[in-house]
Amino acid sequence: GTGKFFVGGNWKCNGTKDSIKQLVSDLNSATLEPDVDVVVGPPFVYIDQVKNSLTNRIEIAAQNSWIGKGGAFTGEISAEQLKDIGCKWVILGHSERRHVIGEDDQFIGKKAAYALGQDLGVIACIGELLEEREAGKTFDVCFKQLKAYAGMLSSTFNLIDAVSSWDNIVIAYEPVWAIGTGKVATPEQAQEVHVAVRDWLAKNVSSEVASKTRIIYGGSVNAGNSADLAKKDDIDGFLVGGASLKGSEFATIINSVT
Ligand code: G3H
Repeated sequence: GTGKFFVGGNWKCNGTKDSIKQLVSDLNSATLEPDVDVVVGPPFVYIDQVKNSLTNRIEIAAQNSWIGKGGAFTGEISAEQLKDIGCKWVILGHSERRHVIGEDDQFIGKKAAYALGQDLGVIACIGELLEEREAGKTFDVCFKQLKAYAGMLSSTFNLIDAVSSWDNIVIAYEPVWAIGTGKVATPEQAQEVHVAVRDWLAKNVSSEVASKTRIIYGGSVNAGNSADLAKKDDIDGFLVGGASLKGSEFATIINSVT
């Protein structure tokens, strides 16, 4: 692995004031390995509640952000507002936003560049559909998605800032067929793509960025499979959906760092 282990909990569109109060209390009392970056992503409307009650050992991510400065964009939330409310991170390019909402590579790349420019960390998601994997297109799809992030950074920032902005990016490889299905990728399947992503970064960004960027895996990670996945050299952490809604299970996943 590279860098510090990173575990994110993406709560998606789940929770109520009461259930989140309980989850925060479970997380506050959990014993967490010190050498892991831990981030949770509540729905927008509960971020303030979480910020005001969760231990600052755990940082907060939003699940989306607008592509630019705020203004007349009904229903959107700007990166500036996320900073203002205490978010350190934003999850972008999640498969549910790509495939359910219809966001494309360019739109996601723009959001990432804007959020990075506002000093938010970006959890940049990539991943193939089942039919793409079956057609042997897994690497092509992931590289195309990576290229959109990298391209937008290069066209937004000067060369030095474009390269240094990778310090604030964590790449989440989430095969779509593994998300919410209980069908976790095998450690070998995940490792194979993580290595390919790292090679892509070495060839297209820099060898330094390739060696220090954390590449985390998401898709049906749970307390029973996280330890085996974490053993793989290029799996630097996880993005956890369903299992992050249970404080004790999420803590077990965090503590599977090796
Ligand atoms: O962002 C998290 C992923 O979509 C994984 O979700 O752990 O429920 O499969 P899951």
